[in-house]
Amino acid sequence: MNPYKIDWERYAALARQTVAEGCVLLKNDDHALPIRKGERVSVFGRIQFDYYKSGTGSGGAVNTRYVIGILDALKSCPDVQVNEKLETVYRDWVAEHPFEKGMGWAQEPWCQEEMPVSAELVAEAAAESDIAVVIIGRTAGEDKDNGPTAGSYLLTEAEEQMLEAVCGAFKRVAVLLNVGNIIDMKWVETYNPAAVMYVWQGGQEGGAGVLDVLTGAVSPSGKLSDTIAIDIADYPSTEGFGDPVKAVYKEDIYVGYRYFETFAKDRVMYPFGFGLSYTTFEMEIAGFEADKDTFKEVVVVKNTGDVPGKEVVQVYVEAPQGKLGKAARSLCAFKKTAELKPGESEAVEITVELAKLASYDDSGVTGHKSAYVLEQGEYKVYTGSCVRCAKESGSFVIEEDTVTEQLTEACAPVEPFDRMHAVLEDGAYKIAWEPVPQRTYSMKERSAAALEPCAPYTGDKGIKLGDVFDGKAALDDFIAQIPDEELIYLVRGEGMNSPKVTPGTGGAMGGVTDGLLHFGIPTACCSDGPSGIRMDCGTIAFSLPNGTLLACSFSEELNEELFAMQGLELRKNRIDTLLGPGLNIHRNPMNGRNFEYFSEDPLLTGKMAAAQLRGMQRWGTTGTIKHFACNNQEFHRTDIDSVVSERALREIYLTAFETAVKEGGAYFVMSTYGGLNGLWTAGNFDLLTTILRGEWGFDGAVMTDWWAKINDEGEEAVRTNVAAMVRAQNDLYMVNADAKTNSANDNLPEALADGRLTRAALVRAAKNICKAIMKSPIMERSLGRMSDEEREAAEDTASEDYVDFDIEYQNIDDEKPLDISALNTEKGASTLYGIRYSKNGVYKLVMRVSSEASDVAQIPMSIFLDGNLRGMIMINGTGGEVVTAEQEIGVLFGGTNYLKLYFGQTGMNIEEIKFVCVQAFE
Ligand code: BGC
Repeated sequence: MNPYKIDWERYAALARQTVAEGCVLLKNDDHALPIRKGERVSVFGRIQFDYYKSGTGSGGAVNTRYVIGILDALKSCPDVQVNEKLETVYRDWVAEHPFEKGMGWAQEPWCQEEMPVSAELVAEAAAESDIAVVIIGRTAGEDKDNGPTAGSYLLTEAEEQMLEAVCGAFKRVAVLLNVGNIIDMKWVETYNPAAVMYVWQGGQEGGAGVLDVLTGAVSPSGKLSDTIAIDIADYPSTEGFGDPVKAVYKEDIYVGYRYFETFAKDRVMYPFGFGLSYTTFEMEIAGFEADKDTFKEVVVVKNTGDVPGKEVVQVYVEAPQGKLGKAARSLCAFKKTAELKPGESEAVEITVELAKLASYDDSGVTGHKSAYVLEQGEYKVYTGSCVRCAKESGSFVIEEDTVTEQLTEACAPVEPFDRMHAVLEDGAYKIAWEPVPQRTYSMKERSAAALEPCAPYTGDKGIKLGDVFDGKAALDDFIAQIPDEELIYLVRGEGMNSPKVTPGTGGAMGGVTDGLLHFGIPTACCSDGPSGIRMDCGTIAFSLPNGTLLACSFSEELNEELFAMQGLELRKNRIDTLLGPGLNIHRNPMNGRNFEYFSEDPLLTGKMAAAQLRGMQRWGTTGTIKHFACNNQEFHRTDIDSVVSERALREIYLTAFETAVKEGGAYFVMSTYGGLNGLWTAGNFDLLTTILRGEWGFDGAVMTDWWAKINDEGEEAVRTNVAAMVRAQNDLYMVNADAKTNSANDNLPEALADGRLTRAALVRAAKNICKAIMKSPIMERSLGRMSDEEREAAEDTASEDYVDFDIEYQNIDDEKPLDISALNTEKGASTLYGIRYSKNGVYKLVMRVSSEASDVAQIPMSIFLDGNLRGMIMINGTGGEVVTAEQEIGVLFGGTNYLKLYFGQTGMNIEEIKFVCVQAFE
């Protein structure tokens, strides 16, 4: 068997298993679930027809071959009898109330109109069924957050009415939440359904995975990766969330359960780590010991119930308050068991390095400024199956304050504010506030001082990157041959949909000009991510479960296996790095992109990301960990400055990235759109150099988010200040339409001329880019070292479906506009035209177009001629202004062609399309 051929069945089976293991059962009174064999099920909620496989935006734009919804899955199961009468009522209503897609990028509403249910309809269904399944759906995505409003974080009136009616008439009601991230749950107490389960957004196999849990084929083992509080106002980060200019992280390290378990236990509805099973488990501590470096414990998990199942051992620490103040609980290890049969046990061994329990002293209060310190006192360890139910399993004492790592001050804030702080009074933690330490140096000066001189320019010596790759030449000597102007082109990534790499992908990096190709630098390709590959020209890819679901599985093993399949799929599509996983912390449940990210906890986030990277790297491909860092709000995401203490940054927001670098071997990082303590991350030297490279040993390339802004200390952030980006060691500006002509009008040439930028800084970036490229599959492929097996598997790529049928031809001579009255510009739509012309030659397609969307919205149109992709036009939102966009489409020869226009997103308002012959053939 050719190892490069994707085993789609195994891929689907792994995804299905992951979905089943990521479902979190929160309530299951009187064993309402699972559905027993032969039972009759009434399914309520329009989402039964409109399953959300993911959220929207770049993280959801996967063209799938199929998506299995929950109703599809139930109907395919011979053991379940779906109430078809009710299904028909819904089907008819949905036909009249079609799914509203919105007007393109970030415009899809977060929820869909729900069908009102009458008392009679529900009573009739109840009389004929054993159980009701109610499905509630929410999407989410880029550029837009949730709000504490109906249809977003809260249920709509119609949803409440449905729950009230169904819970009133049925004894057994299972409510399934097909959502990206947690939502308000107060309704559980109001309507008291017997069972409630978060099924998240499970990708194309979603419904099948949910079915396995509903029928009991799999006992649920997912655990909440976030705390569900009673009210959105209970999260300390809610105050101030959505500010267009600044996000002040006043809660400091007290994010998620760290806050609730310390200060507000009574405001929790479902604690972090919680999730029920169809069976029961007992955990017994069979051994606990600590030495000066680690503590170890053995936890014997026994299945004491009637059905097989998996359990998650979670280990938390309570560190002494000391001078720094600590959260009452911090997750320090977790491990999922294998499936245990009734009566079966597994001994789970846990080892935790004590250094990982240290806290960062950003003020010097312990006498050790800028160091991780294990403060003296007693450390209690708690073990169990959620943060609240974990019981004390051991303890140890640190005799004196111990520095575990001495670092240097980095990324501290420049704006004074007070942060939350814990003090222990009479055995209870109280909230106190203290001023946050401020930055004590100039980052600009630090950055300038750190730049080492480079070897002088030598001119072309005939060294190719392949020679460096083969160990025959030094990287420094190789780069020394490249002229300044080509080094400038090298830091300009191209995209989106660059014709130099796989069609429809996000970006091209490296060999984007003939000059760079001459030196043997191949063109590497990156594409969104994280939940499957985005190829905007319509190429089919596998759609994966969303990040929240993947985290709730608490399974590093499954994440690694599933992403090994993803790694192979990337390789097949000649994509070197996925633009994902997303490692931002769920600071607040309203962040629109939480669905792409994992959790409120940094350890869980980091371990999941590292597992996924290891999986992809089995095939030589990798992921780009993003968005580094503090991309925790979508509203005004390019303008917002996150104001965070250095301690909270290091202990909460950077930790997962560190794990992904050190344990996952990440070699591509994406910075963010926004600012971090006054410096936009794409130009933040401390973040990208002092910490990422200096402290963590990262040895790869950093790219910006698409069309990000950059600033210098004290300056306004703008897109053109790419010199500041290079100085900070953010190596690639993503994305330029054309690197060579400086289509984005960046300041690199002028900065190099006037000394704000040096060749040494460009050389440093070039080295980083080349190192990352040498780790990528494109390197070997460019040297012709692709195995026959791989070549054969790659040729197996499913091509765009192309249908040839009778069609009326339009004459496009003399730049006559195409009749586009029947053009469908909705996401996923393609419209076919026949075109006729009298001149053979090279043509371009020119169109006048506008879009109401924002200027970072991405709206692509792919142009196919006779089934072959000839180019793409990608516009950003124009705020309604009509602009001209054009794309060369190559040679038209023979007088007639089929033209197909395919839209990857809704949102283009096209006024005119015409064809201009740029060079006629005789
Ligand atoms: C998103 C990134 C994404 C990039 C490319 C940006 O709008 O923030 O996460 O990878 O676009 O599509």
